[in-house]
Amino acid sequence: MPNKNNIAEHTMIKAKISDLDYIVDLHIKYIGDSFFTYLGRKFLKIIYSELILSKYASTYLYAVDNKTIGYISFVLNKKIIFIKILFTRCLSIIFCLNFKTFLKCIFYCFNSMGYILKKQYCKSELLFIAVDDTYRNNRIASKLIDLAEIVMRQNNIFKVQVSINDDNFVSQNLVKDNKYIFYKLFNFYGKKMRMYYKLL
Ligand SMILES: CC(C)(COP(=O)(O)OP(=O)(O)OC[C@H]1O[C@@H](n2cnc3c(N)ncnc32)[C@H](O)[C@@H]1OP(=O)(O)O)[C@@H](O)C(=O)NCCC(=O)NCCS
Repeated sequence: MPNKNNIAEHTMIKAKISDLDYIVDLHIKYIGDSFFTYLGRKFLKIIYSELILSKYASTYLYAVDNKTIGYISFVLNKKIIFIKILFTRCLSIIFCLNFKTFLKCIFYCFNSMGYILKKQYCKSELLFIAVDDTYRNNRIASKLIDLAEIVMRQNNIFKVQVSINDDNFVSQNLVKDNKYIFYKLFNFYGKKMRMYYKLL
């Protein structure tokens, strides 16, 4: 509800596990063109539960008058998160995939191992960001990025990377507008991606 001055109230809060379904809905709706989406809703729930609960990751929600209209998920240490998911959630992942996506997942995991474990600019990364399309172009994503950077600095992290599909020009403009610098072009699960970085 708008406050007494009739101005919408904007808040950013840390996501809880009870927000999981809603975040996954937003991911499927707005980040459909990603390897993670291809692996299905159950897989996304496993990944996001880690991004909400792990001390090496965070997810923050953006709400207008208590209605969630966007979120950002980021990792403080990508390797730890990846290895933890691989070893502790391996069975849940196997059972949530069908045969075809399971084979693809194995192929992509091996194919991307070098990328995930070696060719990184740094350990911390902005992973996912989305804003409801009726609220776009109000600098909401930029505020979520600012918040992620503050949390990183509070955790003594002073550099961050972000990887974006080569054809996602809006997100590339978003990160460039937020002072991210192009680092390199690379292939990930058969797609051309652009990595950007920023010193915090
Ligand atoms: C990318 C996204 C999060 C941007 O959200 P947003 O709140 O509209 O972004 P902002 O208002 O903070 O935009 C900041 C800058 O990004 C750029 N930008 C944003 N929307 C743009 C558009 N439609 N076209 C070109 N540039 C755009 C501009 O440089 C803008 O700066 P300006 O306001 O001075 O013009 C939103 O478009 C979205 O949810 N897209 C789908 C999900 C997605 O692709 N996520 C990224 C992959 S995980």
